[in-house]
Amino acid sequence: MSSEYSAELRAAARGLERRRFLTLSGAAATLAFTVGLPGMASASAPELAATQVTSNPFTLGVASGDPQHNSTLLWTRLAPEPLVADGGLPAARISVSWELASDEQFRRVVRRGQEWAHPEFGHSVHVDVQGLSPDREYHYRFRVGTWVSPVGRTRTAPAPGAPVRSMRFANVSCQRYDQGYYTAHRYLAQEDVHAVFHTGDYLYEYAVSAVGGARAYTDRVLPATVSLETATLDDYRIRYGLYKSDPDLMAAHAAHPFVVTWDDHEVENNYADETSETNGPVADFLLRRAAAYRAYWENQPLRRPQFPNGPDMQLYRRINWGRLAQFDVLDTRQYRTDQANGDGWKLPTAASEAESQTLPGLDQEKWLIDGWARSKAQWNVVAQQVTFSRRANPNGDGTLSMDSWDGYPASRQRLIDGWKNGLPSRGNSGRELMVLTGDVHVAYGFDILDDWADPASKVLGTEIVATSITSGGNGSAQPSNWANYLARNPHLKFYNGLRGYVLVNLGRESADVDWKTVSRVTTPDGTLVTAGSFTTEAGNPGLVTR
Ligand SMILES: [Fe+2]
Repeated sequence: MSSEYSAELRAAARGLERRRFLTLSGAAATLAFTVGLPGMASASAPELAATQVTSNPFTLGVASGDPQHNSTLLWTRLAPEPLVADGGLPAARISVSWELASDEQFRRVVRRGQEWAHPEFGHSVHVDVQGLSPDREYHYRFRVGTWVSPVGRTRTAPAPGAPVRSMRFANVSCQRYDQGYYTAHRYLAQEDVHAVFHTGDYLYEYAVSAVGGARAYTDRVLPATVSLETATLDDYRIRYGLYKSDPDLMAAHAAHPFVVTWDDHEVENNYADETSETNGPVADFLLRRAAAYRAYWENQPLRRPQFPNGPDMQLYRRINWGRLAQFDVLDTRQYRTDQANGDGWKLPTAASEAESQTLPGLDQEKWLIDGWARSKAQWNVVAQQVTFSRRANPNGDGTLSMDSWDGYPASRQRLIDGWKNGLPSRGNSGRELMVLTGDVHVAYGFDILDDWADPASKVLGTEIVATSITSGGNGSAQPSNWANYLARNPHLKFYNGLRGYVLVNLGRESADVDWKTVSRVTTPDGTLVTAGSFTTEAGNPGLVTR
């Protein structure tokens, strides 16, 4: 791993161990403000004339995200050479114009404007387009001089309180570049969905070989800049450059707005708050975390409130879809207590079952429970990372995953109690609970039980786990532990170990769930099938085949 950090991150290091005692003073604030913010007078770089951009700067495509009823967030990042530091651009700001139209041919442009692509932010552009109509589809593009970006499609959410009949979304996760082609994204781009929820492991920190690992490229050689474990801001920026230059991922982003949250690999495997995988020095890890969080914001369609303050970033947030759905997007990495019992699959102990164990952190737990209590939405959907439902080890040894909610049972119980306590005040509305999950590289469909120890327990909701896009390689429809998994977990209604994505259609009477899988990912020609189709009835939760 590289131990080089950029000067500004190094300058921010002092005192980071004492971060909990710092607020907006100190090292974290130094990091955030020394670089200035886009569009502010403090942005210091000179201007580079657009005519000086002599090769295509739109190699990473376009994206949109976090639809609101009156606005959408548009994203691009200029990088003529995405696999070198600075994306092949000088340390100068570049003027980018954008336009948003109600038609794909841009005959009816409804908004246009100009933003600076600042070198301090990797020449990324985030446009928060305001004043739009609710529940509308729009098309957008960017321009630098004579260079025009691909066209993206986005949409706004319905108006608050709107009596929405249905809403369709996808859940995806875990797209390790060097373990396969993004064929699932290519098919996802063709789906008719209102939004895509990405529940984490958007990129992986591990070194990527010159042939792209399992992709086994014969038509190109990947440079040394990706054959290292990411540690610095440049490393993470270049890694996003590699991932974002994939044509299938670009197609999915261009086709649908994304609502993203992270898991661990956007920084480092199985980290917990300020504790790294290797339990190294906290200051070193927080520097790495600050670099990773900054690159994450630069490379995702996220708004200004998500802009990181050094090693801290407000990623948990709420998206409303009229009266039909409230989406609570969680961050289960940044605030969690360390995994109990040394992580891995372990027998539950007093340490894992301690009340003090928390996965979202106590503030975020309260935010979620309060949000549920005030929810006016029929479906309350929680988009998050790690498996929520109890998973008994299929080998029968009684161990549970200490990295998942099973390693934080008191935290999970506080949420379940909060959910149940909020039900009476909401009367006949707001009774449907759905949890979206990534992380595990297999597809699961769970009934969320009131009592995990009792298979006849009341069902409170459903958990829809997306398999990986690529991570883990081709996989198989029925992994070797398939029968044992289902037998030892009666609330597990669906299990498949291929790659793919999952589609959910929320309606007033029910939600339909379709797990889509691709036949293989180590070659780019995998075929798509629907591996499982289930429904969960409003007022009578539980996954049943349809
Ligand atoms: Fe993963």
